[in-house]
Amino acid sequence: MLGIAVLGSSGSIGRQTLEVIAAHPARFRVRALAAGHASATFLVQLGDCPDAAAWVSEGKPATIAVERWAEGGLEELVELDGVDLVVVATTGMAALPAVLRALAAERIVALANKETLVTGGHLVSTALARDGDPLERLRPVDSEHSAIWQCLLGERRDDVTRLILTASGGPFREREVETLPRVTVEEALAHPTWRMGPKITIDSATLVNKAFEAIEARWLYGLPYSRIEAVIHPSSVVHSLVEFADGSFKAQLGLPDMHLPIQYALTYPNRLPSPGRHAPPADWGSLEFRELDPSRYAGYQVVREAAAAGGNRGTILNAADEVAVAAFLGGRLTFDRIPMVIDDAVVRWGSPQEPDLATIVDLDREVREALRADLGMAAT
Ligand SMILES: NC(=O)c1ccc[n+]([C@@H]2O[C@H](COP(=O)([O-])OP(=O)(O)OC[C@H]3O[C@@H](n4cnc5c(N)ncnc54)[C@H](OP(=O)(O)O)[C@@H]3O)[C@@H](O)[C@H]2O)c1
Repeated sequence: MLGIAVLGSSGSIGRQTLEVIAAHPARFRVRALAAGHASATFLVQLGDCPDAAAWVSEGKPATIAVERWAEGGLEELVELDGVDLVVVATTGMAALPAVLRALAAERIVALANKETLVTGGHLVSTALARDGDPLERLRPVDSEHSAIWQCLLGERRDDVTRLILTASGGPFREREVETLPRVTVEEALAHPTWRMGPKITIDSATLVNKAFEAIEARWLYGLPYSRIEAVIHPSSVVHSLVEFADGSFKAQLGLPDMHLPIQYALTYPNRLPSPGRHAPPADWGSLEFRELDPSRYAGYQVVREAAAAGGNRGTILNAADEVAVAAFLGGRLTFDRIPMVIDDAVVRWGSPQEPDLATIVDLDREVREALRADLGMAAT
């Protein structure tokens, strides 16, 4: 019986994680749940998981019993007795300190949240640096990284030439580039293949998400950015590919459904029946691949270039993108200006020094406050 903490349990990944857990009641017990707010969904989850301690970032509401409340927040939850594996399904970089604590406390981390590695990949990498396969302790949940992980099983790392992340291309892959300034929030939220939270859905429309995934892949698999590429694959059936020295490619395929990579991170190295969608190959449609056109996806280019420059830029990219996406969703910024806000922030704050945790937190706050003021948004 594996004890699980789910950080961000009320969100899209968090809810699907609880569905996976519910499908295998003899294998898993939920020991901790956390969210941003004590929403109705969160309170129902707490009712369904009587053994779970709880925390919400907005502060303790009267509806959560005192004996279940973890005053020390995410960092306390991941260290609780009985927690063996922590699913990180929060948005933003809120969980970075808790991920470092969990790894130090020998917990397995199943990581859906990409911002943790975008901002603190160097710190996580140091926390993992000891004997053994780091992927046993830090397991990817993102479908692309889960696919790469599965393709690498049984292979020698020295034989890998390239990692190729697949991207659906988002809702605007066919749209005239000149019309991008007029994209509406509703159009940007209509992802063609995946149903996700709003932030990652907008990041998938700009393809900033794919560039963040390249950063994740760099930290998870230790390859340089020059060997991590992306290709447009509209049907999202091939979740990613690995190319080997002999010219072979391996891929992992399936319908777009996060239950499968979530479950694999929980049950590795075993495979069990999954509550996700299944269909035979004849129902998958065409497996088309197209080169990624950088002129259509300025955000992808901006983030990749800044990531390759390293230093403190991951923190800036994450904070600037979050503010820019919120400004777009709130009607304060046009869609085509999201990459410009990110690029300006990198120029303004970028430095080659890799930040420690305290510096990441301070820089994140500074970038957010300044950009929110620039964009006429209320302070948080
Ligand atoms: N959705 C997907 O299919 C998918 C796929 C791959 C990777 N990911 C990644 O997984 C992460 C979660 O995505 P999502 O789509 O599930 O997001 P989401 O639906 O917006 O859910 C986010 C969850 O995090 C909670 N949360 C936010 N701030 C928090 C804080 N400071 N402390 C504790 N909990 C907090 C939210 O609670 P409240 O709602 O109460 O604020 C909610 O439960 C993101 O990093 C995303 O990039 C998602």
